[in-house]
Amino acid sequence: MQVVEVQEYEAQVSVWRTDGDGADGAFETYVLTICSDWSVLNVLQQIRRDTEPDLAFYAACKLGLCTACWAIVNGAKVLTCTEPVAPEMTIEPAKNYRVLRDVLIEPIER
Ligand code: FES
Repeated sequence: MQVVEVQEYEAQVSVWRTDGDGADGAFETYVLTICSDWSVLNVLQQIRRDTEPDLAFYAACKLGLCTACWAIVNGAKVLTCTEPVAPEMTIEPAKNYRVLRDVLIEPIER
C-alpha cells in the first residue's frame, strides 16, 4: 500500500463575487492554508468557514457524479469537487449557465 504524504501550504485564491442575474461582479482574493489533498470545493468551503459566510457555490454529491459544481478554475471548466488544488487559483462561474450568486450556477446548461 502506497502512503501519500499530505502537505499544508499557503494558497492565494481569487473568487468571483457577484449578486448574480447579470449584476456586476469582481474578484476577491483570499490567502489561506490548504492541504495538498483537498479539492477546489474544499477550498471554497474553507473560505466560507473562515471569512465569507455568504459565499455561494454548489456542493452536493462531492464525488463528481451530479455534475452540478462546474466552475472555471485557472481558465479550465472543471468540477470543483474533483479538481485538485494549486498554490494559486482563480475560480469563476462556469460559462453558459445562469449565475445565481458568486460561483453558484443554475445546474442547467444554456
Ligand atoms: S458536487 Fe456533484 S459533481 Fe461536484
